[in-house]
Amino acid sequence: MEKQGKRRLRVVLVPAPFQGHINPMLQLGSILHSNGFSITVVHAQYNSPNPSIHPDFSFLSLPDTSSDHNILAGDGGAIVLQLNAKCKARFRECLAAEVMRQQGPDDGIACIIHDELMYFSAAAAKDIKLPSIVLRTSSAATFLARTALMNLKAEGHIPFPESRSQDPIPELYPLRFKDLPIPIFGKLENTLQLMSGAANIRTSSAIIYNTIDCLENSSSAKTQQQCQVPTFLIGPMHSFASATSSSLLEEDTSCLAWLDKQSCNSVIYVSLGSVAFMDIKEFVEMAWGLANSQQLFLWVVRPGSIRGVEWIEILPESFKKNIGERGYIVKWAPQKEVLPHSAMGEFFSHCGWNSTLESICEGVPMICKPCFGDQRVNARYVNYIWKVGLELDSDLERGVIERAVKRLMVDEEGKSMRKRSNNFKEIVKLCTREGGSSNNSLNELIKMIVSF
Ligand code: UDX
Repeated sequence: MEKQGKRRLRVVLVPAPFQGHINPMLQLGSILHSNGFSITVVHAQYNSPNPSIHPDFSFLSLPDTSSDHNILAGDGGAIVLQLNAKCKARFRECLAAEVMRQQGPDDGIACIIHDELMYFSAAAAKDIKLPSIVLRTSSAATFLARTALMNLKAEGHIPFPESRSQDPIPELYPLRFKDLPIPIFGKLENTLQLMSGAANIRTSSAIIYNTIDCLENSSSAKTQQQCQVPTFLIGPMHSFASATSSSLLEEDTSCLAWLDKQSCNSVIYVSLGSVAFMDIKEFVEMAWGLANSQQLFLWVVRPGSIRGVEWIEILPESFKKNIGERGYIVKWAPQKEVLPHSAMGEFFSHCGWNSTLESICEGVPMICKPCFGDQRVNARYVNYIWKVGLELDSDLERGVIERAVKRLMVDEEGKSMRKRSNNFKEIVKLCTREGGSSNNSLNELIKMIVSF
C-alpha cells in the first residue's frame, strides 16, 4: 500500500458506542495511522474505548447523554438518538480546538470519518467546512434492507403477520420478511429515525464499507446507485489493521491454552457478540445441545447476557459433570485469535457483521442464530448465498442445536461446507493482497483523503 510521504494529516474518527462499531472504526484508525495519518478519536462516554490500548491516537470525549434507563433497557437506538440530538455543538467545539492546534503547513485536519449512526458529526463538519466520510460497519445488503424496511413501514406493511414471514421481498432477493433488519429492543420508531438519519448522506464526500467486493458485488453496486458518492469497499478491515484489540470487556486468553490441547477442526466456538441477549430457556437449550452433541466447545457467555441471571450459575451440576473437560466457558474471548486457531471446527454465531466477516476470513463454517437487526440479513446470506453456514429456526426446541452441531462437525454436509468456507477464505485473501479489490479501494480512499 502506498505511504503518503512526510505529511501528517489528521483524521478525526467518530465511532458509535458499541463494540461491533468501535472495532471496525479503530481498525480503520490503525490502517490510516500506519499510512502516515495522525488520528483523533471523538467518542461517547458510554462504552468509551480504552486510550491506553492506542497510545498513538488522541482521544476526546463527548458529553454524557446516556440515561441509565436506556442502557438497562438495551435501547441502543435511544442512546444514539440522544447523542445525535445533543452532541453537535460540543463536537464542533472539539473540531475547532483541534483545527487551532494543527498549525503546521503540512499538518491539519483532512477530514472527519464518522459511523453512519453518528450523523450529527457530518452536520458539525459542514459548519466548519471540513469534509466528512461515512463509515458503514454493516453490510451493503443491510443498507438496502434498511431502505426497504423504511419504505415497507411507510406503506403499512410493518409489523407483518406471522403468515408473511417466509414471503420473499422481490426487490431484496434473497431476503424474506423474516430477514428484515428489525430491532427487538426499544422502539421501532427510534430505529427507523436512526436509519433515516444514517441514510441521509447529502453532505458526505464518500462512503466506506467494511465489506468485500467478492461477497457483495451486486448489493454494493445498488447502494452506489442510491448514494451517488464514491464508495470504498475496504473490508475485512481487521486483516489490514494491526492486531491491537479494542475489546471493551477483558479478554480471557486462558482459552487459547485450552484450544492448543485440542486436535485440528475439533472445537465449536459459541458466541453471540456484545449486545444479543437470551432468555433462560434458550440458554438451557443451548447448554444441553452442546453437551449432548458430544463435541468439544468453547462458549462465550457474556455476563448479563442471559435475562434474569448473572452468568452461568443456573447450569446444574449434572451439566458440568456431563461436559467434564469437553467444554470451556469464558466471559469474553480474544475472538480474533480464536477463529484462526487450528482447533477451530465451527462457529455458532449470532451473525453480527464483524463476526461474520471474521469467520469467513478464517474459513470457519457457521451455525447462524441471528437475534435481531442486521444479523438476520447476514445469516440469510451466509446460509443461502455464500453457503458457508446453516441457519437455525428461531424456536430452539430440544434436539435442534445438537442436530445442527453434528451436521457440521460429524456429517458429510459439514465436510463440503468446510471446503466451500476454505475456498472463500482464499478468495478473500486475494482481495486484500496487492492488486486485490479491497487493497485497491483502500489506496484510492487514502488518495482521496490526502486530496482534501
Ligand atoms: C452489533 C450488532 O449486533 C451487529 O449485528 C452489527 O453488525 C454490529 O453491531 P455485535 O453484536 O457485538 O455487534 O457483533 P459483531 O458485529 O460480531 O461484533 C462483535 C465483535 O466483538 C467482533 O469483532 C468480535 O471479534 C468481538 N468479540 C466478540 C470478541 O472479541 N470476543 C468475544 O468473546 C465476542
